Amino acid sequence: MFYADHRKHGLRHSPFKALVAPRPIAWVSSLSTDGVVNLAPYSFFNAMADSPPIIVFAPNNPRLGGGRKDTLENIEQTGEFVVNLCNWDLRVAMNESSAHVPPEVDEIELAGLTAAPSEIVKPPRVAEAPAALECEFLFRVRLPGSSPKIENNACFGRVVGVHISDDIIVDGMVDMTRYRPIARCGYMDYALVESVFSMDRPDDNLEASEARRRQEAAE
Ligand SMILES: Cc1cc2nc3c(=O)[nH]c(=O)nc-3n(C[C@H](O)[C@H](O)[C@H](O)COP(=O)(O)O)c2cc1C
Repeated sequence: MFYADHRKHGLRHSPFKALVAPRPIAWVSSLSTDGVVNLAPYSFFNAMADSPPIIVFAPNNPRLGGGRKDTLENIEQTGEFVVNLCNWDLRVAMNESSAHVPPEVDEIELAGLTAAPSEIVKPPRVAEAPAALECEFLFRVRLPGSSPKIENNACFGRVVGVHISDDIIVDGMVDMTRYRPIARCGYMDYALVESVFSMDRPDDNLEASEARRRQEAAE
């Protein structure tokens, strides 16, 4: 099948988010100018650079129209936020924190979680999270919306501090089987990372890939 108009795919639901999957989840904690803690998940999220580390996430308004996400409001006003990373054990709390509640509600508390102080930025991090990235807000790019009511935004942040739970580090590396991150797929689906596989890049290990090529040719 093929479609060009994203509203005319002929399927039960738009397949777009099921195709660009799985997407990691930025569980963003921020502070309002009044000091109220906000926490919400964002799966239009990824790392864009690692030297220095830069992330992007997208607080959009697909249905609400008009009202902007509290997260966007907070980070534009204060210039800081924390991307907490979410794993299997936190899936229910993460989902609960996506409820549309008034800005004066502290969603870390609402989800039954513990706020831990950050080292560099003011917004707290989620103590239970296996990892957290303290971020300085860089800038927002306004993206096209398919109607005037839809506001799409890409928000970039520079990572200025990284917390990792010692429980997920084995031999100096993050062990994915201990980390067990969850990620967003399409519809109401999520993925759980329980196993990984490794591949050398061709240029990283020329000798090994040459030997492999010779062996494959001989077989
Ligand atoms: C797993 C998950 C991923 C989400 N990803 C996004 C996203 O990428 N962009 C977005 O605008 N909303 C996303 N949402 C919805 C927001 O979390 C929700 O609108 C939330 O209430 C926003 O909170 P805030 O107004 O406190 O920032 C997601 C919800 C869930 C459960």
